[in-house]
Amino acid sequence: MEQAVQTHWPHPPVTAHRRSVSEEESRLANGADWDRYADEYQATHGGYLGDVGFLWGPEGLTEAEARMLGEVRDRDVLEVGSGAGQCSRWVRSQGGRAVGLDLSHRQLQHSLRIDDATGLDVPSVRGTATHLPFADDSFDVVFSSFGALQFVADIDRAVAETARVLRPGGRFAFSITHPTRWMFPDDPTEDGLTATQSYWDRTPYVEVDDETGATSYAEHHRTLGDWVGLLAGAGFRLTTLLEPEWPEGNERLWGGWSRVRGALTPGTAIFGADLS
Ligand SMILES: C[S@@+](CC[C@H](N)C(=O)[O-])C[C@H]1O[C@@H](n2cnc3c(N)ncnc32)[C@H](O)[C@@H]1O
Repeated sequence: MEQAVQTHWPHPPVTAHRRSVSEEESRLANGADWDRYADEYQATHGGYLGDVGFLWGPEGLTEAEARMLGEVRDRDVLEVGSGAGQCSRWVRSQGGRAVGLDLSHRQLQHSLRIDDATGLDVPSVRGTATHLPFADDSFDVVFSSFGALQFVADIDRAVAETARVLRPGGRFAFSITHPTRWMFPDDPTEDGLTATQSYWDRTPYVEVDDETGATSYAEHHRTLGDWVGLLAGAGFRLTTLLEPEWPEGNERLWGGWSRVRGALTPGTAIFGADLS
């Protein structure tokens, strides 16, 4: 199915489709997309994120408030989809040994820039969530704040990789776009409050570059029930699901997130699970 042009950020003309897309196609498209988008993303959101700041999503819930990771001091911590490393830098400021992994070279260059500016370095590696370049049992905590999970096709593999690199009893916490948002257009105004597609339709959202015909972006959807099954199937015990409310006084617009929509329906889901 094709739709009128929809852009998740201002970029060359694309056409949006709903169709299946492989893990390799998703990775190649999204890596290039984040390379193109990184400068604008950091310019627009970097101040809100904070160079040494850990936000779980546009609502502004911080890890200092949510405590999804548990104790991080003296713990080995991996951030998947670390971007410019803001969250990992906060973990480091709390005494945790955080390292970052991200698909985008340009995002990692921003991470280095902020390392230099703050004097708080986040050792980071370029890679993908489905092939973590770490030995088994390397980390006490793996987390992702709107990082890779909604960008990968092979989510079973990404969750299995997380379980592999975690030590027994380790903690996995991640935020994603709340699955119920899949039903609505990515529009922060009241126009975005009418459900236009099925919550249960897992067909990925794919953008194709009008000039080159190449896949330029891919996003994947899993229902809440899918996530429960994925985590249990990989040996995790789900302990927490946070659905932060839109706070009083937050007037920020971020993609489809806004006060208008946040007052009525959740935009972010934050899962916390322990490896059995
Ligand atoms: C919305 S940003 C979140 C980054 C950071 N947590 C923040 O709040 O700015 C998503 C990040 O996930 C990365 N990403 C996308 N697909 C990935 C994958 N398959 N493996 C690792 N990182 C990925 C992107 O490059 C991007 O830096």
